[in-house]
Amino acid sequence: MKPIITLAGLVLAVASACAHAEPIVIKFSHVVAEDTPKGKGALMFKRLAEERLPGQVRVEVYPNSTLFGDANELEALRNDEVQLLAPSLAKFEQYTKQLQVFDLPFLFDDLDAVDRFQKRSKGRQLLRAMEDKNITGLAYWHNGMKQLSATRMLRQPSDASGLTFRIQPSAVLEAQFGAIGASTQQIPFANVYDALRSGTVQGAENPWSNIFSKKMHTVQPYIIESGHGVVDYMLVSNTRFWMGMPHRVRSELEAIIDEVTFMVNQEAEELNKADRERIRQAGTSEIITLTPEERQRWREAMRPVWKEFEPVIGADIVNAAETVNRKQHN
Ligand code: LMR
Repeated sequence: MKPIITLAGLVLAVASACAHAEPIVIKFSHVVAEDTPKGKGALMFKRLAEERLPGQVRVEVYPNSTLFGDANELEALRNDEVQLLAPSLAKFEQYTKQLQVFDLPFLFDDLDAVDRFQKRSKGRQLLRAMEDKNITGLAYWHNGMKQLSATRMLRQPSDASGLTFRIQPSAVLEAQFGAIGASTQQIPFANVYDALRSGTVQGAENPWSNIFSKKMHTVQPYIIESGHGVVDYMLVSNTRFWMGMPHRVRSELEAIIDEVTFMVNQEAEELNKADRERIRQAGTSEIITLTPEERQRWREAMRPVWKEFEPVIGADIVNAAETVNRKQHN
């Protein structure tokens, strides 16, 4: 006998299947503290996603390298062991050389310039630069401009000679320190504080929020307000996972990402300013402000790095980035 399916029965069956369907689990792993621009962004994404897609999406946030760290998070994403990450732009070198543009020293005058570049077509295109590696860029999130920190007072580029700086895994950053006679060591973010405390390295570069939240100022007697580069992030997902979600869920999540991105990018600068003030009040390190002439000397010393990397990054990308600055440079 043929089973008779009524419309009401079908509606009921679908409704009950939906009610019992397991939520899509999105693991969001990152390496920084929760009270940083990225840490706050991850938590806001979780809150909005679970509020607006109740029972359909569950977001698990793992801060401070508790699930994956710098060394393995991108491979874990490609293997779908984690579904969202926001690595700093210096950490994608293995997958595309184009993002190295963000590491070029003194390319962007400030975070507003970085923002303008990310919003223009070249910047937007870079979000798709790793799709053939199963990595989809969903948004850029700001942290802030990098400041140098060291065991020694640095005013002139030559003052850094002989020191070893911790760097992210980026050939541009290695060349940047090489240009001022310093050595480098690539160290995952989770181990930076210990490396500075034990003296394995004598210097580093980070925005104020990372310096403060990881207590680096307690082991670096000098912080030089150099603003020579940027630490920003690309929010990324596994392409197959992201495109494989039901269309309705994906569009809702993308709308949420737009909202979170707006919040992160609006608050990042304020958060860094507040952490700068906390560091100043802690009194453990001297904050050195460079005069315009001193800063120009750092710029001149590091600027040759652009020429070295322009052929790999693409002259079109470097030029597009340079034009976002409002000041004219020599
Ligand atoms: C670093 O490794 O220095 C930073 O990129 C960490 C981060 O994610 O802000």
